[in-house]
Formats: sequence, structure tokens, C-alpha cells
Amino acid sequence: MIQDKVLTHDWLAAAYAESVTYKPIQVMLLGERIVLFRTKEGVHAFKDLCIHRGAALSGGKVVNDCLVCPYHGWEYNADGKCVKIPQQPPERVIPPKAKTVKYGCIEKYGIIWVDLSNSLKETDLPDYGEFSDSDFKTVGAPPYVMHAAAPRVVENFLDVSHLAFVHDGSLGDHNYPLIPNYRVYWKGNRYVSDEIPVYADADATGNYATLYYTYEILRPTTARLKKVNRENGEILSMLFTVVPHHERKTTVLALVSRNYNLDQSDEYYKDFQNIIIMEDAPVVENQRPEELPLDLQAELHLPADRVSIAYRKWLGELGITFGSDVSGKVKKNVTTGESVTRTEA
Ligand code: FES
Ligand SMILES: [Fe+2]
Repeated sequence: MIQDKVLTHDWLAAAYAESVTYKPIQVMLLGERIVLFRTKEGVHAFKDLCIHRGAALSGGKVVNDCLVCPYHGWEYNADGKCVKIPQQPPERVIPPKAKTVKYGCIEKYGIIWVDLSNSLKETDLPDYGEFSDSDFKTVGAPPYVMHAAAPRVVENFLDVSHLAFVHDGSLGDHNYPLIPNYRVYWKGNRYVSDEIPVYADADATGNYATLYYTYEILRPTTARLKKVNRENGEILSMLFTVVPHHERKTTVLALVSRNYNLDQSDEYYKDFQNIIIMEDAPVVENQRPEELPLDLQAELHLPADRVSIAYRKWLGELGITFGSDVSGKVKKNVTTGESVTRTEA
């Protein structure tokens, strides 16, 4: 496992819940092979390794709520304890060492979240109220694999300035590149931006208007965005989270929630989000350095970049190393003259 003290102690998205069934699947998280599967009790995440001969448990199956190794049929219960060794008589004691590593695992917002430290509570998960709000309809965009570092991918989501260029004609308009002044502040447990007016199309339907964008940096791998059309009350919200497989391989999971066009097909919103991420991918996959520089002197920043400045600063404060370029000293003061304020809102 890649030793990152921040991400190994955080809820990490691993997959959409719908892809975790009684048929086990393997997901790579921070370089560690994890097996995800479902039993009557719910969803489970184990280290994808059988203690007997090192087979991948994800190649096996679930029988009687136990995960059965594909190689010699050892059976592991929901606690990761081996409860059956077919090669020995049932009365023989199973050695206590015969177990696999079980990780924290919960299902929320249609996503499976894994806690590699086994120390977190469900309440440590970021809040996304739209998911259970009956005024909204939420769809999950198809998982999208990017060959890029997770922090680079998240920062791209938090970047308001690129809409007019990378998404010209889909979300943004190159005739409206100007980003008005805005602030970013610390609110309880996350960074939140002011409402930023952007001339944009919320969902590539061809309806451009001034939308008010609010970004929230919830966790190192999870963020959210709310776009509000004040003229008609339409809101499009997103929960954006990434599965950090390796330093340079990341899967994007994005929930898109809308309180309008409820009769529009969910497929439209899945396709729409997929198109947007396909526009982002070639840019993000070609950024250099591949890792996100946390030294604020390493790249040039504008006032329009305040959300990403806050993100980089926060990652530096938390002490993240995964997917981050920490070669330079992380400066305490932002020298753009437009420092991010960390005050309660
Ligand atoms: S390797 Fe798993 S049962 Fe033998
Ligand atoms: Fe984008």
C-alpha cells in the first residue's frame, strides 16, 4: 500500500454501489488490491489476498454470506475470518492466523467508501444532501479513468477559469472568460467559495445564462459544486469524488443532481457528464509535473485561482504526499496578494 498518512485515514470512494454485488470485484486503492463484495449484511472490503497461497479472493464467489477463495475453497466470513478449510475435517480447529484484512466499508450516496485505517465513522463522510432531497433527481455519471494524479484531477474540477476554454460550447463560452473577484473561506470542516457568477450552460442543453457557482472542497479526494440560476431557481449540483488507484491512475465518480428537467432521461445527464470529463482528460493527463505542486511558488496563480490555491494549501497543511509534488517547501503565505482567508463564515 502506498503510505500516505492522509488518504489512508480518509473515506475513499472505491466504486459505484451498483457495481458491488454478490460477485466480488477487485479495486486498486493506493496501490493495494482490495476485494469488494456484498452479502445479506451489506457491503464488505477486504485485502484481496488469501492467507493460504496468496490467491486473489476477488476471483472467488460468495456462498452462504462467506467469501470463498477460488484456489482451494477456503471460506472467509464477513469479519474476514476463515471459517472453513475444505481440506481438513470440520472438527479440526482453524488456526486464528487464517484470516484476511478487513477494511471499513460503507455504502452511501450510491457509492462504496472504504476506510483503510478502520478508524472512521460514517459521520466522517462528506455531506451531500441533494442525494436524499426529493426536489432533486441524482444520477451517477459513468466511471471515468484518468491517467493522472488524483489531486490534479480534483483541482481540475475546482477550476472555474477553464470552463470558457476546455468546455467552450458545452459548459462555457470563450467570449466570457472574465472571472469576477471572489473569496474562499473555511466553514466548519471544509473550504467554500463565494457564489461566483459565470456565463455558462449548466448542462449542455444550449441554455446559456449567468449561473452562480459555489465550490466546496470537502476532502482531499472529494468536492462539490452547486450552480444556481437565480432567474428561474434551477439548481444543478455535483458530488465529485475520485478513486485513487495509483499515483497516476484515478477513476472519477460524479453524481449530478438537478431540481429541474426531472422528466429528462437520466441517460442525458450521464452522457453529458461523460462528454465534459472527456474534454478535461487530455488537458489533465498532460499537465506537468504529473503531481500537484503544493509549493505555491511553483506555478503562477491569479485571484481567479483562489479555490485551487485553497486546495493546494490545505493538502500541504494536512501533509498529503500522494499525487503531490512536495519537493519545494510549502510556503505559509500566498504571495499573489490575494491570500485565501481561513476564517469561520
Ligand atoms: S490460496 Fe486461497 S484457499 Fe488456497
Ligand atoms: Fe472541466
